[in-house]
Amino acid sequence: MASTGPVAAGASAAADDPSAGDEVAAKAAEVDLDEAYAYPPAAGRTSYVRANFVSSVDGAAEVGGRSGPLGGKADRQVFQLLRWLSDVVLVGAGTVRHENYGPVIVPPERRDRRQAAGLAAVPPIAVVTATAGLDPGARLFDAEVRPVVLTCDGAPPARRQALAAVAEVVLCGDSTVDPASALAALAERGMTRVLTEGGPLLHAQLAGAGLLDELCLTVAPMLAGPGRMGIVEGPPWPEPVTMRLVQVLTEDGNLFLRYQR
Ligand SMILES: NC(=O)c1ccc[n+]([C@@H]2O[C@H](COP(=O)([O-])OP(=O)(O)OC[C@H]3O[C@@H](n4cnc5c(N)ncnc54)[C@H](OP(=O)(O)O)[C@@H]3O)[C@@H](O)[C@H]2O)c1
Repeated sequence: MASTGPVAAGASAAADDPSAGDEVAAKAAEVDLDEAYAYPPAAGRTSYVRANFVSSVDGAAEVGGRSGPLGGKADRQVFQLLRWLSDVVLVGAGTVRHENYGPVIVPPERRDRRQAAGLAAVPPIAVVTATAGLDPGARLFDAEVRPVVLTCDGAPPARRQALAAVAEVVLCGDSTVDPASALAALAERGMTRVLTEGGPLLHAQLAGAGLLDELCLTVAPMLAGPGRMGIVEGPPWPEPVTMRLVQVLTEDGNLFLRYQR
C-alpha cells in the first residue's frame, strides 16, 4: 500500500553540514522570492494581514529579549523583502521598545518597484500601544515617513500630544486598541497589505480574533532552551486556529514556512 506519511529526506546529510536538510524543500536562494511572497491580488483592496516571525526549533521567539540571535542572513533577507512588499509594518509597542525599532529602509531600486506597483515609496511603521509609552525622541520617529501610533482613549493625553508632534496618532478603542478598528484605520489610509512583526502579544490578539491571514515563520536551527517567549503570548484562546501550509523554503538549515488561514 502506498504510504501517505511524511516524506523522508536529508537523513543521510552530514551532521556538521550547515545546509543539511536543504534537499527537503526548494532553496530560498534558487527561487524568485518576490513571487514566492507576493500578496494575493485582493490584498490591494481589502486588509490582508501577514505576520512574520523567527522562532527556534523549540518555539522561542526571543533570546535575551531580542529576536536577533535567532535570525541569520537568509532570515534577514526574507524579513526585508516582506517589509518591501507591504503597505505598513504593524508592531506592538513592546517590540518597538525591546528592539529599539527604527524606520523601514527601502533602497532606491525597491522604491521604484514599489511605486510602479502603486505602493508608497516607503511603508510606515504603525505601533499599537495602550499607554502611549513611547519616547518621541526614539529613532523610530526620526523617519522620512511619519509613523502611525494606534492608541486608545485611555492613553494619557499629555503623551498622546507629545507623540502627535512626530507621528499620526489614531484612537482605536477605549482602554485598549481594538485590533479590527486598528486595521480599519490603516485601510482608510490606503494601507491594506499589512505586515505585522508581532510581538507575541499583538500577534496572539490578531490571530485569536480571526484577523490573521498569513504567517511567515522562519524556523532557525537551534534550541533556545526553556523559559523563552513564543510567537503567541497572552490569554488562552477558546479554540486553536488551523492554518494551511502553502510554501516551504530552506536555506542554511533554516526553514521558511508560509501558512495561510
Ligand atoms: N522572533 C520574532 O520574530 C519576534 C518578533 C517580534 C517580537 N519578538 C520579541 O517579543 C518580545 C516583545 O514582545 P511583547 O510581549 O512586548 O509583545 P508586543 O506585542 O510587541 O508588545 C506588547 C505591547 O504592545 C501594546 N499592545 C499590544 N496589544 C495591544 C492592544 N490590543 N491595545 C493596546 N496596546 C497593545 C502594549 O503596549 P503598551 O505597554 O505601550 O501599552 C503592550 O504592552 C521581545 O523580546 C521581542 O524580541 C520576537
